[in-house]
Amino acid sequence: MLAYALEIEQRHTTGVARGGAAAAHSENSLFPAGKSSVVPPILEETETSQYYLDRQTRTESNARTYPRRLPLAIRSAQGIYVKDMNGTTFMDCLCGAGTLALGHNHPVVIEAIRNHLDAGYPLHTLDLTTPVKDEYVHAVFETLPAEFARNARIQFCSPSGADAVEAAIKLVKTATGRQAIMAFSGGYHGQTHGALALMGNPGPKVPGLMPDVHFQPFPYAYRCPMGKRNCGDCACAHHTEHQLKDPEGGLPVPAGMILEAVQGEGGVVPASKRWLQQIRRVSAERGIPLIIDEVQTGWGRTGTMYAFEQAEIVPDVLVLSKAIGGGLPLAVIVYRGELDKWQPGAHAGTFRGNQLAMAAGLATLRYLQDHDVCTHVQRMSMLFQARLGELARAHECIGDVRGRGLMLGIEIVNPHSRDSFGRPLGDRQTALRVQAECFRRGLMIELGGRHGAVVRLLPPLTITAEQVEAVCDILSDVFKAAAATAREAIAAHV
Ligand SMILES: Cc1ncc(COP(=O)(O)O)c(C=O)c1O
Repeated sequence: MLAYALEIEQRHTTGVARGGAAAAHSENSLFPAGKSSVVPPILEETETSQYYLDRQTRTESNARTYPRRLPLAIRSAQGIYVKDMNGTTFMDCLCGAGTLALGHNHPVVIEAIRNHLDAGYPLHTLDLTTPVKDEYVHAVFETLPAEFARNARIQFCSPSGADAVEAAIKLVKTATGRQAIMAFSGGYHGQTHGALALMGNPGPKVPGLMPDVHFQPFPYAYRCPMGKRNCGDCACAHHTEHQLKDPEGGLPVPAGMILEAVQGEGGVVPASKRWLQQIRRVSAERGIPLIIDEVQTGWGRTGTMYAFEQAEIVPDVLVLSKAIGGGLPLAVIVYRGELDKWQPGAHAGTFRGNQLAMAAGLATLRYLQDHDVCTHVQRMSMLFQARLGELARAHECIGDVRGRGLMLGIEIVNPHSRDSFGRPLGDRQTALRVQAECFRRGLMIELGGRHGAVVRLLPPLTITAEQVEAVCDILSDVFKAAAATAREAIAAHV
């Protein structure tokens, strides 16, 4: 490794002289022509994943998550595949938590980035406009339902999903003059002080978060919070409507309601169409702006451009990030023009002008549209659901298989246990073993949901049928092995 470090140092100190490009620059020129004089380092690939993991452990914060359960250092990536420093290839069904809609390094994204750089377009412009930005904005508006797009406004935010959530909260508070926000159990909206306050899971919360957040039940069909067996009854929406109507219900009229049409981190929980429609009606009747957070679901993930489309509803504020930057950081809110009560400068953020992300995002969007990727997602989803359904019938530790499009979840339970409502308990330990065994066999998946007992699949939207089969074959082997281990454990106790 020392050789590698020395090599970089030498190249940086001697690069100008050796590169020769500096000679082509006029001493006084503000716009030097030619190539950069800094030669990129040549990687001496003698180190293993473990080498980098050890260094990471020594330098990065204790808050790091993924490397603890997916212990690899990534050397290269293409499509669904990533190769680690040991030369091992993995199938990546995490894809930057759904960010990489087209998988890693898709040629159209790489080409768009190269073209942007070659054209001399700026990298960053605050909120000044450019032809790239202009095209991006119009392309985003084209993805929206016509009645929404007609009078919509867009605000580019600092680049994370949480930043856009913060902007959405601020927007509806300004527009309504109200303070409270309604959120839903199991929801995840990011880790800033406002967004974190909206999160169902108290685990990562710290004292002093944004006050005045009021939680309502989310229709989690497998574990209905209202104790119903049939989610179609939609007791959750009834409850929320009742709470808002009841003069002694204890709820203030909120500045906004925020929800995910399919909860991601909460355990891949799709809201029923009925619930979404009822919440839309209730919020509209009461003049409560409805914020739909499509940070994870936006741009084809669920088989339609936006998950809300499947419920035939339209939000007042749409929160987008992840896929919309084509793998580079970008976040926006799009909202009804009537909510635009912001004064100049009422919302800002230095990195709201990430032009390269707009170029990469635009390339991604055009590819999704030109190749009808949403239909492909629906087909691949059916293949997945069929195979995962077979697994669920074969293995009693699989309590539920659910999801929309290529956002799929497998809830792992202990079939021999019951909670006080008579439902099998989520089994985090088995879920962890499933994840570790998948990783050992070359498949990267994530866990989420209540007690971290839901295996989550977020493959590239371009996954092929063969790749779906390959992912499911690994899962099948892993569940067979898990069942054998469980049988041995039971035998040992008898
Ligand atoms: C629905 C949803 N909203 C917001 C966020 C926060 O995004 P970020 O991690 O970019 O802040 C996430 C992240 O996973 C998300 O899934």
